[in-house]
Amino acid sequence: MKANAIIQTDVVKATINRNIYGHFAEHLGRCIYEGLWVGEDSPIPNTQGIRSDVLEALKRLNVPVLRWPGGCFADEYHWKDGVGPRKQRKRMVNTHWGGVVENNHFGTHEFMLLCELLGCEPYISGNVGSGTVQEMQEWVEYMTFDGESPMADWRRQNGRAEPWKLTYFGVGNENWGCGGNMRPEYYADLYRHYQTYVRNYGGNKIYRIACGANSGDYRWTEVLMREAARFMDGLSLHYYTVPGPTWQEKGSATEFTEQDWFTTLKKTLFMDELIAKHAAIMDQYDPERRIGLIVDEWGTWYDVEPGTNPGFLYQQNTLRDALVAGVNLHIFHKHASRVKMANIAQTVNVLQAMVLTEGAKMVLTPTYHVFEMFKVHQGGEALDVHLKSDDYEFGGERIPQVSLSASRDAEGRIHISLCNLHHEAAADLSVQLRGLTDNRRVSGRLLTGPSIQAHNTFAQPDAVHPVPFDGAAVAGGVLTAQLPARSVAVLTLEA
Ligand code: AHR
Repeated sequence: MKANAIIQTDVVKATINRNIYGHFAEHLGRCIYEGLWVGEDSPIPNTQGIRSDVLEALKRLNVPVLRWPGGCFADEYHWKDGVGPRKQRKRMVNTHWGGVVENNHFGTHEFMLLCELLGCEPYISGNVGSGTVQEMQEWVEYMTFDGESPMADWRRQNGRAEPWKLTYFGVGNENWGCGGNMRPEYYADLYRHYQTYVRNYGGNKIYRIACGANSGDYRWTEVLMREAARFMDGLSLHYYTVPGPTWQEKGSATEFTEQDWFTTLKKTLFMDELIAKHAAIMDQYDPERRIGLIVDEWGTWYDVEPGTNPGFLYQQNTLRDALVAGVNLHIFHKHASRVKMANIAQTVNVLQAMVLTEGAKMVLTPTYHVFEMFKVHQGGEALDVHLKSDDYEFGGERIPQVSLSASRDAEGRIHISLCNLHHEAAADLSVQLRGLTDNRRVSGRLLTGPSIQAHNTFAQPDAVHPVPFDGAAVAGGVLTAQLPARSVAVLTLEA
């Protein structure tokens, strides 16, 4: 099987916004509690309550931005319940996710601390579904006001003198569904109303993100852009890769066939069409591309692991998820002039997670490794790529076998990431490197495994991990490589 490509190394298509490598952590299952927050008195080593192993692992990803507190939880969350002395915080029932008691020990201060420790930007989702305009206005005042004011004074009383820098603020989440079952016309008006009170205090400038469409609901995008484009900086999009035919039969994370592997990858490639179509609607109202398309929930969604709480969305993560991650990141690069942020769902123990935890143990997933390998693209210049790949055929259907993306970093290095989607066939790759004026040597890393179901467990945490890749060479301006079946690779060309 073959793939031929041309990379115009002197033609830059767009800057890859590093926020495309963003994350999402919701009060759902064991994402926040156990996964990120164990509390200061926990026997699990922690940094002011945040578990240190997860923190250190996430730091290695250069997480640019973290979305919180939901998800569906955001439209039930009342932020005032999550500040002040922890023991006195109000308890509530997390009705969306397992009906468990939420003790509000992880609130605004703890989230901002996590972002500071990670060195990332916070992205807060405000409550439109069951919250008031005043509540939203006061949250922004609490976090960002620098003078004397009721909310800023309360923040100081609660131990934080300086305001935080807050750029990204979402006005509601999935308001077409769990966030209020609204029609786009109604939400567009509510968005205009609520965002008016999401104020810029002092030097803090908020980037306002409106709730966008569910998958292929193009009418939602049309109405939002028509009625509210001038009031927004970003518009979101949610799309999950669900291999099964229905939400009741999504399929297992680890026990799947070659057909399921193919179907999953085919379904994940739909992200390209979705972004292109939503972007085309946005172009009609915003030809300058001022407004970012913010893909703030994406990733795989399978049946939960047997014996776990169905409301906790805990799933394993295999080589299949690594391919899903690589392919989607390539799609976001391709649309970098419109896609300004993406947040994989979710960081720990939920859906397509970076890390899984069990008590004091932690394991890195294949998806984690893709994010770590691809971090060289963050903030890079996306280069012009033309790819012609043989098809990967299965059960009478076809998808391109190889996916490729290239960027140049600030030091002039060229990074080429590659995915071979085929479950059993290697790919011979030949890439013409046009516009290169110097000689380059190539180095690389590869992620693959002995089977399509390969994954890391607490007993075998390193079954899938990146290894050095020496199967690539550059000669006479042509890069050649043999990509093993079911693999993700990142090659670097440097002088
Ligand atoms: O990520 C899990 C859930 O998926 C989120 O809470 C919601 O926004 C979406 O439906």
